Amino acid sequence: MKKNADIAIEVKDLTVYYQKVGALSNVNLRVKEKDFLGIIGPNGGGKSTLLKAILGLVAPHSGTVQVFGKPPRKALGLMGYVPQFTKFHRDFPINVEETILMGRLSGKTPIFHRYSEKDREIVHSLMNKLELYPLRDRQIGQLSGGQLQRTLIARALTVEPKILLLDEPTASLDTESKSHIYSILKELNKNMTIIMVTHDMGAISSHVRSLACLNKKLYYHGHSELSQELITHLYGCPVDLIAHGVPHRVLKEHNNIGGDSHV
Ligand SMILES: Nc1ncnc2c1ncn2[C@@H]1O[C@H](COP(=O)(O)OP(=O)(O)OP(=O)(O)O)[C@@H](O)[C@H]1O
Ligand SMILES: [Mg+2]
Repeated sequence: MKKNADIAIEVKDLTVYYQKVGALSNVNLRVKEKDFLGIIGPNGGGKSTLLKAILGLVAPHSGTVQVFGKPPRKALGLMGYVPQFTKFHRDFPINVEETILMGRLSGKTPIFHRYSEKDREIVHSLMNKLELYPLRDRQIGQLSGGQLQRTLIARALTVEPKILLLDEPTASLDTESKSHIYSILKELNKNMTIIMVTHDMGAISSHVRSLACLNKKLYYHGHSELSQELITHLYGCPVDLIAHGVPHRVLKEHNNIGGDSHV
């Protein structure tokens, strides 16, 4: 057995620049298999960049990323990705089923590709799982935010990944749609490592298992319940929490639920 058999992702001394703009500085992060990691931090703190580096979409200036012991570009089939901003226009004439099927195209030339029976079976089973089957013929422009997000999660799952990376999947969703997404993620997490960038502090206290706090540097990685001491200590990172006026909720829930688990 290999020593790091249960490590899904290993980021070592990762530094990323966009031209002269430093986005990540010396980030070290180990994510265990089947973890549910939440990543928080202020706008521009490098959260999306970290996901992109794990996916091999941006190149490190220095340092390394390994996904199940492989470089990202060799591990693409192991990862599903729900980006923060989707490139397609919502008025593009494509329905839910076709959008999800497109996930099966990764790495293939769309124009020559015929979907196989297996492609269609996978997509059907995902539509059932994510309660999208009744919406399968609906144009994506006619979906609610939550339904569109579930469609994009289904599309990311078509590669049958071992790791799912989601960049703010519940941004601008109402409470009910958020809960629906979190219950889906909880179910998926039984068999899959999940990494989710979020500004949703409610999710941090109740849905994720561990937490990474990023503001160019990785300020914290550990237990998902932030303590008062940690908030104070890491002021450079949780400024965003404070800016949104919600840190008290995180602390209160922490004090109520996990009173003995100060970091
Ligand atoms: N393609 C790009 N070209 C140049 N600079 C970029 C590019 N993408 C990101 N940056 C810069 O890198 C830094 C990190 O950006 P990133 O998108 O990773 O932050 P983020 O934490 O995801 O922010 P947000 O919460 O707003 O989504 C920022 O300073 C940003 O302006
Ligand atoms: Mg981002």
